[in-house]
Amino acid sequence: MSEKATLNVNGGSYDLPLLKSSEGELCIEISKLRGQSNGITTIDRGFKNTASCESKITYLDGEKGILRYRGYSIEELASKASFLEVSYLLIFGELPDKDELEKFHNDIVEQSIVADDIKKIIDAFPGAAHPMGVLSSLTSALTAFNPDDISLDYARSKEEMYNTIVKLMGKIPVLISWTFRKKNGFPLEYSSKTRNLDYVENILQMMFKRPNEDYVQNTVLVDVLNKLLILHADHEQNCSTSTVRIVGSAQTGLFASISAGISALWGPLHGGANQAVLEMFNAIKEDGGDTQKYINKAKDKEDPFRLMGFGHRVYKNYDPRAKIIKEAAHNVLETLGIDDPVLEIAKALEEKALKDKYFVDRKLYPNVDFYSGVIYRAMGIPSDMYTVMFALGRLPGWIAQWREMRLMNEPIGRPRQLYTGSTLRKFKSISKR
Ligand code: ACO
Repeated sequence: MSEKATLNVNGGSYDLPLLKSSEGELCIEISKLRGQSNGITTIDRGFKNTASCESKITYLDGEKGILRYRGYSIEELASKASFLEVSYLLIFGELPDKDELEKFHNDIVEQSIVADDIKKIIDAFPGAAHPMGVLSSLTSALTAFNPDDISLDYARSKEEMYNTIVKLMGKIPVLISWTFRKKNGFPLEYSSKTRNLDYVENILQMMFKRPNEDYVQNTVLVDVLNKLLILHADHEQNCSTSTVRIVGSAQTGLFASISAGISALWGPLHGGANQAVLEMFNAIKEDGGDTQKYINKAKDKEDPFRLMGFGHRVYKNYDPRAKIIKEAAHNVLETLGIDDPVLEIAKALEEKALKDKYFVDRKLYPNVDFYSGVIYRAMGIPSDMYTVMFALGRLPGWIAQWREMRLMNEPIGRPRQLYTGSTLRKFKSISKR
């Protein structure tokens, strides 16, 4: 087979290299087309079919509903691995052995101290501040307390890059738990037993420990949070990850790049959907529970309402993460003896949508955000913190993608455009100058 594609434009013919992914998909490389053709460019609004980079981290096949991290299936990782193992796998490429995992954990614990002045910043935020705005600002503020991270030339030292990574893995959970504690009026404390707790147990203890009370770990909550974080850990070149990579491509430091990723994740069409989903379930419940009415609204092109937690840019089949989360939501509610009417609303919406021609024709299925809020709610986490929990899970993925981009020495991200504005026109002054 010829290893090139040929593009014919207005009588001109251009040979373009044909690349192949390790899973066999073909990809036409167009980076030299402009030079070859004297100015032809390509456009793909919303990057619907454009690869922005080469990556060895995550593979997904949206038609078949396959998701793998570094070659391992998401189903296997979510049922057998710890979040920290998966984080190591994503960031460094291979599963850690026992010593490597222990070192990684210890280094993270070592770096999980946050400057006391950050507490003053948290205190200065109004009580109604959205936790995603707070988290993104605090992550950005960390650059001021970690000046080494600004525009680091990581090619100089892999050790510096490693240190920055463990700092982020250690400090972000502290920022998240403090954001949560501030909302609850709890003092901003660290976990007292960090070294004895695993990464996920430590997060739960930091979030939920009440002043002057011992915190007793609930294994159901630890297991389900571990699973949720793994399921959210990476998803190749989505909106927030592409943001992290493009910000980092200007040789911006890791903290600042991740802060930008948190802002991108916040939007309701991306990670912010988990909050919007739960609010939608509640609104339907309050409106009498008529799920068909909301299915009809979602189908009505005159109505801006969308069925939140449904549809995906890449999955045109059931999102494999949603399958696992749906089952986990059932188990958690059953084990904790919680009878939550929103689960019934969710199931009714899903059942109706999956039989409806509108959703079937457009291949719209529940995505990762459809059932996750049901679990967070059972854990006692308020809906405006759901996207923050997503960010906690996505952290190793963002770090892995940023590290890969820097190690591959990728050029600065700078798309072209199709200019549709005015051509040259004459300026008429209204000032006296
Ligand atoms: N409800 C109703 N209709 C929908 C929905 C939905 N949730 N999602 C897509 N559609 C329709 C669109 O109106 C469009 O219909 P048309 O062909 O008649 O115009 C068609 O399906 C294709 O949708 P697009 O918006 O073009 O698809 P795109 O890939 O650009 O968007 C997205 C994907 C943003 C996820 C979209 O499905 C959506 O808005 N879903 C709801 C928000 C959500 O759950 N986001 C979380 C995604 S997962 C994540 O990022 C973590």
